[in-house]
Amino acid sequence: MDAALRRIEGGAHRSAQPLEAFVEFRHVSKRFGEHAVLQDLHIALPRGCITALIGPSGCGKTTTLKLINRLIDPTSGEVWVGGENVAQVDPVQLRRRIGYVIQQIGLFPHMTVEENVMLVPRLNGVPKPVARRRAEELLALVGLDPALYRHRYPRELSGGQQQRVGVARALAADPELILMDEPFSALDPISREQLQDELVRLQQSVRKTIVFVTHDMDEALKIADLIVLMRQGEVVQMDAPEDLLRHPKDDFVREFIGEKRMRQWLPGETVGEVMVRAVTLRADLGLAQAIRHMQRQRVNGLVVTDAGGEYLGVVGATEVVQHFGESSLRLRDLMTPVDPVTPDDDVLRILPRLQREGFGFLPVVAADGRVVGVLTRGGVIDAMLRRRNAVAGGSPAAARAEGAAAIAAGEGGAR
Ligand SMILES: Nc1ncnc2c1ncn2[C@@H]1O[C@H](COP(=O)(O)OP(=O)(O)O)[C@@H](O)[C@H]1O
Ligand SMILES: [Mg+2]
Repeated sequence: MDAALRRIEGGAHRSAQPLEAFVEFRHVSKRFGEHAVLQDLHIALPRGCITALIGPSGCGKTTTLKLINRLIDPTSGEVWVGGENVAQVDPVQLRRRIGYVIQQIGLFPHMTVEENVMLVPRLNGVPKPVARRRAEELLALVGLDPALYRHRYPRELSGGQQQRVGVARALAADPELILMDEPFSALDPISREQLQDELVRLQQSVRKTIVFVTHDMDEALKIADLIVLMRQGEVVQMDAPEDLLRHPKDDFVREFIGEKRMRQWLPGETVGEVMVRAVTLRADLGLAQAIRHMQRQRVNGLVVTDAGGEYLGVVGATEVVQHFGESSLRLRDLMTPVDPVTPDDDVLRILPRLQREGFGFLPVVAADGRVVGVLTRGGVIDAMLRRRNAVAGGSPAAARAEGAAAIAAGEGGAR
């Protein structure tokens, strides 16, 4: 437990202060009748951090969250918030000190946006003008122009805008702790990503302790300082995102972080599957021919062959241009006999070489010596991209970035 806290220090959470526990579950169990929902939950969540509770549906995430603001009480064990046992605190008082954002938004439909945001401060006795000014600031903070939105009713807003109001309302009483239960799950993917980004940005300035329930690992990885992965009422692994990815504890965790899915687009495949067409030219041709050919084919290098199509070497546009004045030179005089790869080679093993290769590509040569293609960085990324889109339906831009990252990681990797 403490080890997990220590590891996230200096990570996404850059605090000058050492981490301290703000929410603690001390041997908490919860049963509903015969049904044991949580078994001996014993974890500490750090102050000023976003902790994501994640796990399959029904594993007890919402139950865990509701134990914190006493919407339910434990069957055994204790929940502590900010050094207080919540069992000793009046539930109504407790909830006014804890922000709560839920998926179904939970705005009051008969109140305007401003009234919704002002509600808890007003209940806490904050004078109306002060609460109103606070609502104005908060709406601006969550990206809603107060002048445009304060007097609207929830039904007049999009789902994303309503959820922003929900976040503003949770911040209204300036609570130290905010609980969020799948707050963005009902939104379309674009709004969801936007709100995730904004939550991270917002957190930079407000530095609240946030407990965020989600079933979406990408969401957890993006926003959380600490991830608590649960299964059937128990904690399977609790770690910073980077550690979870690098050191999944067991197959369940691996499955959950989608390692299999990741492997499917990583090149476990052969060079033959991801190579692209080679632009070749005969060794006995001159440099003007070479330049014309490269221009027409839109490439900046050529694979040089003999008259029978057998591989001899590689030449780059730079050398050709540099020596263009020497009219007697042929391609055979300029080419470099780069060690070719074969169509059966594993791409992952070739990546480091591809990364180092000054020409930016590697010739692919079959057993009979004939050139059958070239392996390019762009070609490998595109192949990953096609595969990933087919498998996971991921966003092309993200996959492209990941593909490029995988290639960069290949440097110094498998050899
Ligand atoms: N009030 C309740 N009475 C009986 N069973 C409940 C109640 N609330 C939740 N459960 C059960 O507890 C388990 C965990 O629920 P929950 O915490 O909502 O899961 P999650 O949020 O991870 O999907 C589920 O099997 C659910 O059916
Ligand atoms: Mg739930």
